[in-house]
Amino acid sequence: MVVILLGPPGVGKGTQGVMLTQSLGWERIATGDLLRAARREGTALGEKARAYMDAGNLVPDELIVEMVREHLAGLSPSVGIIFDGFPRTLPQAESLDRVLPGVGRQVDAVLLLEAEEDVLVKRISGRRVCQESGRVYNVYFDPPRVPGRCDESGAELVHRADDQEDTVRHRLKVYEELTEPLVAYYESGAAPILRVDGAAGMEAVKETIRGVLTSTLGLES
Ligand code: AP5
Repeated sequence: MVVILLGPPGVGKGTQGVMLTQSLGWERIATGDLLRAARREGTALGEKARAYMDAGNLVPDELIVEMVREHLAGLSPSVGIIFDGFPRTLPQAESLDRVLPGVGRQVDAVLLLEAEEDVLVKRISGRRVCQESGRVYNVYFDPPRVPGRCDESGAELVHRADDQEDTVRHRLKVYEELTEPLVAYYESGAAPILRVDGAAGMEAVKETIRGVLTSTLGLES
């Protein structure tokens, strides 16, 4: 099974993606996380991606497609996959549709998380991440027990460089221009689109996703 999490920055793709992989035992391929790991490791890909990411622009398709292809090749054929933040452009979606049959897969469903811009900006401005444990917090909605410190690792929490308000608003425009056309692409028959109200609380969104995956794909999460 292959499920894509689609939606604007801050809508909760990462939050729900982590919860889903835990409940389903699937693998999550999150291109933003892979790029940030490449930057921390100082790889050539990480260095090429840095300026695009910090400015809130998309990293070129060919770099992303190659990174995803390498990642896919390393996965067991039987494990389910959740794509988080990929595909993000029409060429990426078309490339995925060419690559998946080669590994005996297809896109089974697209979960489209939706919320208003004000909700997204507030969520992103409150987001703090732990680079050691990978856990994501929110100072308004999901704060750590000790302010500024990860509950799991104790490490200092970080405010992402691309989470400043101006950059966030630019990322939202990039989403509208380059990623939103994917909704029409999948609606035209490439895969079923399942719309989810992403503005609800985390547990409510999780329950909605569980319901639509069960009724559409017969999954028990
Ligand atoms: P990426 O890391 O993928 O960022 P994004 O898509 O902009 O998404 P975010 O991580 O900002 O948000 P999210 O939807 O995952 O929300 P989250 O769950 O964290 O990409 C970063 C950059 O990498 C891109 O700009 C681009 O440069 C590059 N890139 C990545 N993929 C690429 C690709 N395919 N092609 C080209 N370039 C690519 O939640 C946000 C906050 O809200 C958190 O604090 C969370 O705790 C809180 N929250 C979540 N859900 C709820 C809820 N229901 N109620 C209250 N708070 C909530």
